[in-house]
Amino acid sequence: MAIRPILRIGDPRLREVSAPVDSLDTPELYALVDDMFDTMAAADGAGLAAPQIGVLKRVMIFGVEANPRYPDAEAVPTTVLVNPEFEVVDATPTSGWEGCLSVPGMRGYVPRHSAIRYRGFDASGEVIEREAHGFHAVVFQHEFDHLDGILYPDRIEDPTRFGFEVELAEAGVFE
Ligand code: NI
Repeated sequence: MAIRPILRIGDPRLREVSAPVDSLDTPELYALVDDMFDTMAAADGAGLAAPQIGVLKRVMIFGVEANPRYPDAEAVPTTVLVNPEFEVVDATPTSGWEGCLSVPGMRGYVPRHSAIRYRGFDASGEVIEREAHGFHAVVFQHEFDHLDGILYPDRIEDPTRFGFEVELAEAGVFE
């Protein structure tokens, strides 16, 4: 188990489309997931995708209890998803301020689908399938984008609603 360096925007590896995981229930996969949890916890993140630590595999984790980065966010179950897929249940956009450990210190206002149904596998190969709404759905969509080389700034519609958290807060744009 180890805390791994988190790649930052500008690193071309964050723009790659990651490859599916071929084998579940392997020591390599458990070690990757352990490192991802250690890295996410050390950075106070709500989620992390494997490419953010330079591993171009379709693995994501997320989970929110009380998180100082998201003080008003609802809880999201601690989840490992390997080779995830999703479909849109409710395409009504829900917009909110997002941050990303690969875009440190910044926030942007991003539209996402309100409700989705996702499925994938945990590290042992158990199928996970859930309908997700609200912040849970947002976190999934954010992490899923990482697997396709998409970062949240790509999805910002109003460029004035993007910037450093401190400046946005001082301007009263982001609370
Ligand atoms: Ni991110």
